[in-house]
Amino acid sequence: MNHFYHESRFGENWFDYANIYLRFVEEAPPGATIVEVGSWRGRSMAFLGVEAIKSQKRLQLYAVDTFRGSMEHAGHPQLATGSMVGHFLGNIKPILHAVHCLPLPSTEASKLFDDKSVFAVFIDASHQYEDVRADIMHWRNKVQPGGYLAGHDFGGYDGVRRAVAETVGLYTVVGQSWITQC
Ligand SMILES: C[S@@+](CC[C@H](N)C(=O)[O-])C[C@H]1O[C@@H](n2cnc3c(N)ncnc32)[C@H](O)[C@@H]1O
Repeated sequence: MNHFYHESRFGENWFDYANIYLRFVEEAPPGATIVEVGSWRGRSMAFLGVEAIKSQKRLQLYAVDTFRGSMEHAGHPQLATGSMVGHFLGNIKPILHAVHCLPLPSTEASKLFDDKSVFAVFIDASHQYEDVRADIMHWRNKVQPGGYLAGHDFGGYDGVRRAVAETVGLYTVVGQSWITQC
């Protein structure tokens, strides 16, 4: 299956963590669950989905998003149409069969997962300190031993840096992302 995540229909390109998603797919055991918190128009999930399908590991992929945008998306034309979730689903059509879409706030969605049941969670939702802190606190116990908790925008947002520093013991910064093995 060929990659399509670079296509223009995905709009803004914030996806600079392909190396982390490749690690998730490579190290995940067969049937493992991987959660993306913050999927927007689907670019990053499009990459993850193709890699997951190519792996033939039957990975369970979840896209968690309110589909209402973050603070920095206020006034975005795509939100004005009220069709964000439809746009996401349409954009990822080639991999739709491999993705579970949860149109919920991150902390609510986390309650649908048992503790230690998820191989990897990648947080790329709100970048506000309180929200990132809440996301980490809600998702960290869901990750199984040896699995990964990671997130985006460590470089550009003080709130992300502070929340990660306060709540995650040991972590590594990879480009604009942070990652810890549980
Ligand atoms: C930066 S975008 C995600 C970009 C995407 N990962 C990519 O690279 O294409 C952030 C997304 O997080 C979502 N979001 C913000 N706060 C959220 C929350 N509390 N719960 C769930 N989703 C949230 C927004 O709706 C937005 O779609």
